[in-house]
Amino acid sequence: MPKKIAFFDSGIGGLTVLHQAMKQMPSEQFIYFADSDNAPYGTKTSTEITALVEDAVTFLAQQNIKALVLACNTATAVAAKALRARYPFPVIGMEPAVKPALKQTSTKKVLVCATEKTLKETKLSHLIQQLNAESKVDKLSLQQLVLLAEKGLFETPEVRIYLETAFKEINWQEYDALVLGCTHFLYYKNLIKRMIPATVSIVDGHQGTVQQLQRCLIQTEQTNQGSLDFYTSQKRESNQLLEPFFNRIRSFI
Ligand code: DGL
Repeated sequence: MPKKIAFFDSGIGGLTVLHQAMKQMPSEQFIYFADSDNAPYGTKTSTEITALVEDAVTFLAQQNIKALVLACNTATAVAAKALRARYPFPVIGMEPAVKPALKQTSTKKVLVCATEKTLKETKLSHLIQQLNAESKVDKLSLQQLVLLAEKGLFETPEVRIYLETAFKEINWQEYDALVLGCTHFLYYKNLIKRMIPATVSIVDGHQGTVQQLQRCLIQTEQTNQGSLDFYTSQKRESNQLLEPFFNRIRSFI
């Protein structure tokens, strides 16, 4: 039986990465696991996140999978290392796209937007240190966007007010790039683009993650018939529920 590729996120954020993978790998069989009962992850402790991710991955590992994509920066920062040590299949994680963003900067800085937890984790500070970019990177939590996205609120006055408040203190003249370091934030790409100067590029890691997945799978067999199984916190759901999200994603990817 052909093996599947599992995608995991705390909720609907990782659909942005799944959508790209389905486009580039149409003959693969996918499983998407949204841990909607437990979103958001970004306000939880490492112990809580680790337990939730382990639970979900124990379930996914029983579904005949050949790779796992943690389409969640927060889960990657906390749990990817332990999962890689435990499971035989490749575990592809996500981290804020600081490196590609730095390539787009000349004299100015990069603003990394992510969840509270991703911003606090040592994984991100190590990445910034490795790139020797401490003086070139600032951080901004946009945690509230996760709940807004989970509630299906996208271009609403509530969202706009939240972003205006979050951006209030930002002097955009200091930045060349803004990193969307949480998969939920991609849903707000068009809105953010309209709220910040055109000189600031918006960078994210969804394409890089799919490329990494393809590199990992190069040696394995291809199936002919693409498919998708959708679960929310271990409950099988209808794929029709995903259509409004995929339609939205098509507008910014
Ligand atoms: N989508 C996730 C990420 O990329 C997690 C957001 C959350 O649950 O707080 O970080």
